Amino acid sequence: MCRLILAVVFVFFAGNSMAAGPLKHEAQDWSWNGIFGTYDRAQLQRGLQVYKEVCSGCHALKYVAFRNLVDLGYSKQGIRAFAKTFDVKNAEPNEEGETFTRPGRVTDYFPSPFPNEQAARASNNGAYPPNLSLMVEARPHGADYLYALLTGYKDPPKGMKISEGMNYNSAYPGHQIAMSAPLDEGAVEYTDGTKATVRQMATDVTAFLAWTAEPNLEERKSMGLKVMLFLFAFLVILIAMKRRTWADVH
Ligand code: HEC
Repeated sequence: MCRLILAVVFVFFAGNSMAAGPLKHEAQDWSWNGIFGTYDRAQLQRGLQVYKEVCSGCHALKYVAFRNLVDLGYSKQGIRAFAKTFDVKNAEPNEEGETFTRPGRVTDYFPSPFPNEQAARASNNGAYPPNLSLMVEARPHGADYLYALLTGYKDPPKGMKISEGMNYNSAYPGHQIAMSAPLDEGAVEYTDGTKATVRQMATDVTAFLAWTAEPNLEERKSMGLKVMLFLFAFLVILIAMKRRTWADVH
């Protein structure tokens, strides 16, 4: 029994210290933080633009379907037109038995730009650009980490040797990453006129990827609030009942 408790305590703390990781990232002021926090639709739309114009060249978003973009405030026609700008591999081969790609449909998921992992690695110096749809959930303090990663390309400290094909990044574990800095000042021209600084694009695309990782966050929070309100009202009723029940005893 004692051993079991020790084992549980060990796993808990070991897991925790691993989750905290060796690198601390500055906490950003995200719009969805706190119990009343919600996503900022304009920011998510800008983030989608950065994903589409920059990240989708290498990364898939395989758990997000185009139709999910209604949550960001787009119309059905807008989404249909947007889906068409992606090449999607058809699930079934054609009559000659050949696989083929076609323009995306609203029910498709954001595709990987590469036909398979080998092709993805071959174009990226042997490294694999991971699917980004759950990345914010998959890393500790995911949103702060992603922002730190995207803004963390700097000159390496003196004396540090960077291997060929790798880049120095202050936020990446080990500080050497195969992805070269994806964002340059003005890499996109925002349709809403916002100035596209590296920090702005990093913030917006991180917000978008936080939404892809947890699209139901707002519903979950409002449900949580309703449950808390209900429990509070229930407590008040219970106290009143207790007082009435015991009133005559004294
Ligand atoms: C030219 C291709 C390319 C582009 C464009 C690109 N990436 Fe990457 N990305 C990669 C590769 C390759 C890796 C794997 C790096 C490694 O294993 O060292 C990677 C890894 C990542 C990771 C994982 C880091 C980790 O902790 O494992 C994240 C997050 C990421 N990219 C985000 C983005 C975002 C956001 C964009 C768009 C702003 C973007 N990438 C654009 C190639 C790219």
